[in-house]
Amino acid sequence: MAFILGIETSCDETAAAVVEDGRAVLSNVVSSQMAKHADFGGVVPELAAREHLSGIETVVGCALEEASLGISDISAVAVTNGPGLVPALLIGVNFARALAFSRKIPLVPVNHFTAHIYGAFLDGRTAILEDPASYPIIALVVSGGHTVILLLGPDSSASIVGQSLDDAAGEAFDKGAKIMGLGYPGGPAIQKLAKDGDPAKFAFPRALTGASGRAVSPEDRFNFSFSGLKTAMLKHKKIFEDRMPAQSFLADSAASYQEAIVDILVKKTLDAAEFHSARTVVLCGGVACNTRLREKFSKTIRHPRFLAIAEPGFCTDNAAMIAGLAFHVMHKADGYAIDVFARLAETEFNVFSRRDFKPVVVAQIG
Ligand code: KG4
Ligand code: ZN
Repeated sequence: MAFILGIETSCDETAAAVVEDGRAVLSNVVSSQMAKHADFGGVVPELAAREHLSGIETVVGCALEEASLGISDISAVAVTNGPGLVPALLIGVNFARALAFSRKIPLVPVNHFTAHIYGAFLDGRTAILEDPASYPIIALVVSGGHTVILLLGPDSSASIVGQSLDDAAGEAFDKGAKIMGLGYPGGPAIQKLAKDGDPAKFAFPRALTGASGRAVSPEDRFNFSFSGLKTAMLKHKKIFEDRMPAQSFLADSAASYQEAIVDILVKKTLDAAEFHSARTVVLCGGVACNTRLREKFSKTIRHPRFLAIAEPGFCTDNAAMIAGLAFHVMHKADGYAIDVFARLAETEFNVFSRRDFKPVVVAQIG
């Protein structure tokens, strides 16, 4: 039995969680700094680091308390070491490192991006990952930093089959919301307004989908481009803002803008799933909280594929996904000198693999 304490500080959430054997989430504590960054319209790295510094001890304490465990019950400490904001990552890594070192237990570096995928299998669904019949898997990771379609093969292989050439889908939500004068983060604000709006009222571009009649080159078949959306929103605002009552303008604009992002994400994922004969399709990352996206995904991606959509609490940044995945990548624990990295491309692309899903013996170091 391994109780792993996970720590996550890659962006603006200070999070800690305890997960047993990669499956049972005993606690999942998230302290969000969103309100602090809202005035700046986005995350300020130095401010994020300072907030992590002041909150991390309390958050980790709460995670242990909620799990009804003491630090002496913990078998290993797992921590996000990238991709993310370097000043923010350093706080979590240093804290985790000191804690693991003082207890002489393993310190496991965990890839935040990969952990988002694992988030879709927490709470009773990890067996799917251990079953060869679940592969190939197509996973759409949609967050504030990434929009990537990943292919996980039955032979433990993992490759990126598509990604955004510019903004991530979460950025498209955030930037669109900013132009509309809504708060940060933009995704939840747009979703809320969109509920009362008409998604077919305005035509926002769906780049690289062929919707405009322009052919999509084969290399961009599974790639995304969202940067044109914010320009379209700027133009749209100038043309329509004065012509409609304020509330219906905002609601219809939010609904139409959201629909464009959702359509692009669903179409590309479905195409990739069909092309690669995927048996399982995963939807994860912060944008996967979006109710319209979840609804369209469930309706469009059907049998014979299994659809794993992360629970909302495991979509946005959390430490349960870090502690959960750590159980399967314990072999990456190698002393206490771990480094942090900002971008996915800066590291070996460490996707969990079925090879890693063997029972892991948690050994004491030192
Ligand atoms: O995964 P996450 O918490 O952090 C990163 O790793 O980036 O994702 C944050 C992103 C933000 O861009 C936020 O606007 C978006 O997820 N988001 C949403 C919703 N909730 C969060 N986007 C659309 N609809 C939502 N309900
Ligand atoms: Zn994230």
